[in-house]
Amino acid sequence: MKDHIKELNERFTKEMSQVCDQRSLEELRLAFLSKKGQVSQLMSELAKIPNEQKKEAGALINSFKQDIIKRFDDKLEEIKKAEEERLISSAESYDESLPEKRRKGSYHPITLVQRELEQIFASMGFDVEDYSEIVDDYHCFEALNIPKFHPARDMQDTYYLSTPNQLLKSHTSAAQNAIMYKYGKLLKENGRPIRAVFPGRCFRNEAIDACHENTFFQMEGIMIDKNISISNLIYFMKTMLSEVFERDVTVRLRPGFFPFVEPGFELDIQCLICNGDGCPSCKNTGWLELCPCGMIHPNVLRMGGINTEDDPYAYTGFAFGLGLTRLAMMKYGVKDIRTFNEGDLNALSQFVSK
Ligand code: PHE
Repeated sequence: MKDHIKELNERFTKEMSQVCDQRSLEELRLAFLSKKGQVSQLMSELAKIPNEQKKEAGALINSFKQDIIKRFDDKLEEIKKAEEERLISSAESYDESLPEKRRKGSYHPITLVQRELEQIFASMGFDVEDYSEIVDDYHCFEALNIPKFHPARDMQDTYYLSTPNQLLKSHTSAAQNAIMYKYGKLLKENGRPIRAVFPGRCFRNEAIDACHENTFFQMEGIMIDKNISISNLIYFMKTMLSEVFERDVTVRLRPGFFPFVEPGFELDIQCLICNGDGCPSCKNTGWLELCPCGMIHPNVLRMGGINTEDDPYAYTGFAFGLGLTRLAMMKYGVKDIRTFNEGDLNALSQFVSK
C-alpha cells in the first residue's frame, strides 16, 4: 500500500506540474478525487489487505487524500491570481480611465419639468392623459377647425407617413377631440367639468438650430364647463407658472391666431432675469413668449360632441399649449435646444427634481 501511494503521489506531482488552467486542474481532480478516481480505488483495495494492517493503511490513504486536496486548492488560487494579473496587464481589457463607480441614472430634464407640471395640474383637479404619437389627419387638423387645404396648415410643416392619412403629431392639440369624447358624457350628465392636461412628443419639419428642433415636447391643457371665461384661463396659467418658477410671475395676453381658439392669445411672462427692465434674454422687451392659448372655438366644441348646432355656446372652455421644451430651457438655463436630444449624459444628468 505504501508503495502504491508513493507511486500515485509521484504521478500526481508530475501531472500537477503540467496543469496550466482551471480546466486541466479539474480534469486532474476528477482523476484522483471523483467516485471512480484513484483515491476511491485505494479505498476499495483496503478491503483486500489483512485486518491488522488496515488501520495504518487507512491513515496513509487519508493523509494522501488531505494532502492532494490542499494542493488542488493552492493550485486553484495560483491559477486565479495569474489570470487576474494577466487581465490587468492586458491593455484592451483594462481601461484605467473608467470611472470607479457606475454612473447613476437620472431623469431627463424634460421629464422632470413634465412631472412637476403634472403634479401642479393634478393638484388643481386636472386629469393627466396620454395620447399616441401617430395620429390621423382628422384629429390633428380637421377636428381643430383646420379644413383640408386651409392655409393655416402651413403653420406646421408636418411629417406624413406612407400609410394613408397617418402623420406624426405636430402638436398636442391633436388629442383635444378624443378627450372631449372621453369626458363629454360625464360633463353633460353629471356636471363634472372637463379638466385635462396631455403632455406629448411632437414633430415638425424644422430647420434645426439653437431654438428649433424637429422633435420637441408640449403640454396641452383644456378646461370645459358652463361659463368658463378668459379670467379662468388667466388664473390657471398664472398659478401654474408661479409654481413652476417658484415665484410670483406677471403675465400678459397678446392676440394670437390659431384656428381652434377664438379669441386666441400668446401668453407672455415678464422676464424673470431683469424683472421687465429689458435684457439680452428677453431681447430687451421685458417679456418672454411662453404659451399660446385661447377660448376653444365653437366649431371644435361642436366636433368634439360637447355643444350642438342649436346651442353652440352651452359650454365654453379654454385651451393652452405649453412648450415643455421651451419651459425646460428657461427653468434650467439651457441655451441650445439640441442639448435635449443629443443624448450627452454629461449634459443631461445634471438636473434634479426639487
Ligand atoms: N397647438 C398650438 C401649436 O402647437 C398651440 C396652441 C394650443 C394654441 C392650444 C392655442 C391653444 O402651435
